[in-house]
Amino acid sequence: MNILTNISTLYRVPVDGAHEDVDAVSDAAVAWEGDTIRYAGPVAELPSDYADAQRFDAGGGCVVPGLIDCHTHLCFGGWRGDEFAARLEGASYQDIQASGGGINSTVRATRNTDIDALVAKAASALSDMAALGVTTVEAKSGYGLDRDNELKQLEVYRRLQSSQALEIVPTFLGAHLVPVEYRERRDDYLALLCEELIPEVAQRELARFCDVFIEENAFTLDEGRRILETAKSCGLGLKIHADQLSSGGGAGLAAELGAVSAEHLEYAAEGDIRAMADAGTVAVSLPIASLYLREPFLPARKWIDHGARVAVATDFNPGSAPSYHLHLAMTLAAVHQRMSPSEVLRGVTSHAARAIGLHATHGSLMPGYRADLAVIDAPDINHWLYHFRPNACAMTLKSGDWVERR
Ligand code: NIG
Ligand code: FE
Repeated sequence: MNILTNISTLYRVPVDGAHEDVDAVSDAAVAWEGDTIRYAGPVAELPSDYADAQRFDAGGGCVVPGLIDCHTHLCFGGWRGDEFAARLEGASYQDIQASGGGINSTVRATRNTDIDALVAKAASALSDMAALGVTTVEAKSGYGLDRDNELKQLEVYRRLQSSQALEIVPTFLGAHLVPVEYRERRDDYLALLCEELIPEVAQRELARFCDVFIEENAFTLDEGRRILETAKSCGLGLKIHADQLSSGGGAGLAAELGAVSAEHLEYAAEGDIRAMADAGTVAVSLPIASLYLREPFLPARKWIDHGARVAVATDFNPGSAPSYHLHLAMTLAAVHQRMSPSEVLRGVTSHAARAIGLHATHGSLMPGYRADLAVIDAPDINHWLYHFRPNACAMTLKSGDWVERR
């Protein structure tokens, strides 16, 4: 048994509570055995039979469930600082993409980078994320766009799962863009996805989810439906990059197909917001992408008023969101999406867990949950979000083991 004490405020975040209910306890302690939480509550009520447990000191900080970054494009070759500079001069994200840059340029770089180099690059990002208190990371393919290179990205995630501490939840995003070599025959690419790649990825358990980018210049609503229905029939969970740059009906499709989540959603129509709330599909907000693309931030109040669960993630990728700093996304969500600190905390814990199908085991500190937690050097979550700094996280526990202790 292990015990963490000297906690100013502990946030238990019960999975089915209301948005504002993060179940804060002051003067708290947490106990865990192996990879499982056994006790989380007032230090005064710690069971006495824990007397010979190993003890750790939280230094008076607050403790939250291990953070979950539920939307990243973790594995990619190269970077796109030149496009960032071009956008500052006035070029648009969609124009850059249409002229062969954007996602296409990262596809070229990813195809040209060998698997060992991709593993090393992603591992370095994961180690920084762990230091920030992140314990679980959803990670998409989508920069290979052919059989070998899509599988190469998923293989990177498989290797990372066994070579570093954080948990990776892989998503197949072969439908990120129609690759240039298929531009004149997109039906052939759809056939490759639906008849070969999705069944193979599912059968080899290389991914848990299938995602589609539904947008002008990417995939149409009908194509998205076909791809996701195929994925569903193969046993994969569903996600959609929906209504990011224009209103395309992706959010409504996510609700209709029973997707676990839809992401971005800045331009989602009112009726689709209601449909997602009713279906229990998590709305994953990605404020770092809004920041970099100067797009509107998700109107989170509207979503929450409709009863939707709003998660917050980084969208880490080399184009629209070149940062894996989840704390930055959280502070942006508070300031620009008008979410309360409690709602933001849910957005990176219980709601994020739900967006990757793990809410029965992750994203909460109730007994029986995974022993994943972060010790934050702040008296409470208000102070944490308000005082943005390089790293407010002092300690990170993943599956019962310390991965970070400063
Ligand atoms: O989530 N929207 C599509 N995909 C990514 C960006 C990918 C890129 O620019 O490389 C996103 O924003
Ligand atoms: Fe994304």
